[in-house]
This record gives sequence, structure tokens and C-alpha cells, in this order.
Amino acid sequence: MTLVRHFSPTDIPQIAEVVNQSLGENYPPSLYLTVHNLWGEGFLVITDDGKVIGFVAAVPTGQKVARVLMIAVLPESRRRSLGKVLMADLYASCRAKGFDTVVLEVRKSNKSAIAFYEREGFAIFGEIKNFYSNGEDAWKMMKSLQN
Ligand SMILES: CC(C)(COP(=O)(O)OP(=O)(O)OC[C@H]1O[C@@H](n2cnc3c(N)ncnc32)[C@H](O)[C@@H]1OP(=O)(O)O)[C@@H](O)C(=O)NCCC(=O)NCCS
Repeated sequence: MTLVRHFSPTDIPQIAEVVNQSLGENYPPSLYLTVHNLWGEGFLVITDDGKVIGFVAAVPTGQKVARVLMIAVLPESRRRSLGKVLMADLYASCRAKGFDTVVLEVRKSNKSAIAFYEREGFAIFGEIKNFYSNGEDAWKMMKSLQN
């Protein structure tokens, strides 16, 4: 059974595995704690029979704006609407905090994530050159939570 809940520091090893498999990154554990400390309700995990299979992490950026830093679902669990469920719960956290806008950056080459965000109602509103460490550019995307 899948369940969405708030991040707990004991999730870090499993989240690190999702990040490694989904994003090819190995972040220091302290990064997850820092993000969690910035906004606990914006860091959500989805579990299947207790195992972490995905997560979303967002932080406040400006008075009414949340910024999604990361979202990932294990490769074998994709296209089962888990990403959509995570985002729906994130929007609920945002609304509860009075945020009216969600922004994010995505690699221009990450076509599946762009398709996912567009399906979520995000639109491209800008770009950032050389945003990633390999020199790749990012699209800036945003979604209004009003109405
Ligand atoms: C982006 C990501 C989190 C989406 O998670 P997911 O659980 O597979 O997404 P969902 O099943 O909720 O998809 C919802 C809709 O988004 C769109 N979508 C999702 N993945 C897609 C893909 N690969 N290609 C095209 N459309 C896609 C579809 O419209 C989908 O609905 P459908 O399956 O009924 O057609 C997942 O692909 C992932 O972990 N990617 C690797 C990490 C990453 O790139 N994260 C974003 C940058 S930080």
C-alpha cells in the first residue's frame, strides 16, 4: 500500500538511493537535513509497504512562493501517478502555508520531467544558462495555485 508522509531523518539512506538511481547524484546527508529544516511540510516521501519509492522536496523562496528542489520516483515505480500524488500533497502543504505559486528549474534535456511538469500545469517562463555543474541550461517553470 502506498502512503505519503513527511520526511524523517531516518529516511535519508533510502532517499539517497532514490536520488542515486533517478538523478545519478550522491548528495551529503546534511543536504537533506538542511532542506528539511527550511520547511518540514515541503519535504514529502511516498512509501510502498514501508519502503521509500519516491519523494519531493521544496523550500520557501519569497513570501508566497515555494521552489521544488527535487522530485524523484524509483524507475520501476514510474508512470503509476506517484509523482502526481506527491505534487498534489505538496500543493496542499503550499496552500496551508499561504503560498500561491510554485517554481522550479529543470534540465532542458530532461524531456520526461518537462512533460510531467507540463501535465501538472507548470509553464516555462524563463531560462538560466549554465545552471548545472556540467554546464547545461535550465528551464524555469512555474505554476499558480490560485483558483
Ligand atoms: C519526473 C518523475 C518524478 C515523474 O514521476 P512519475 O511517478 O513517473 O509521474 P506520474 O506517473 O505521476 O506521471 C503523471 C503524468 O506526467 C506525464 N509524464 C510522466 N512521465 C512522463 C514521461 N516519461 N514521458 C512523458 N510524459 C510523462 C504523463 O502525462 C503522466 O500521466 P500518464 O502516465 O497517465 O500518461 C519521474 O519521471 C522521475 O523520477 N524522473 C527522474 C528524476 C527527475 O528527472 N526529476 C525531475 C528533476 S529534479
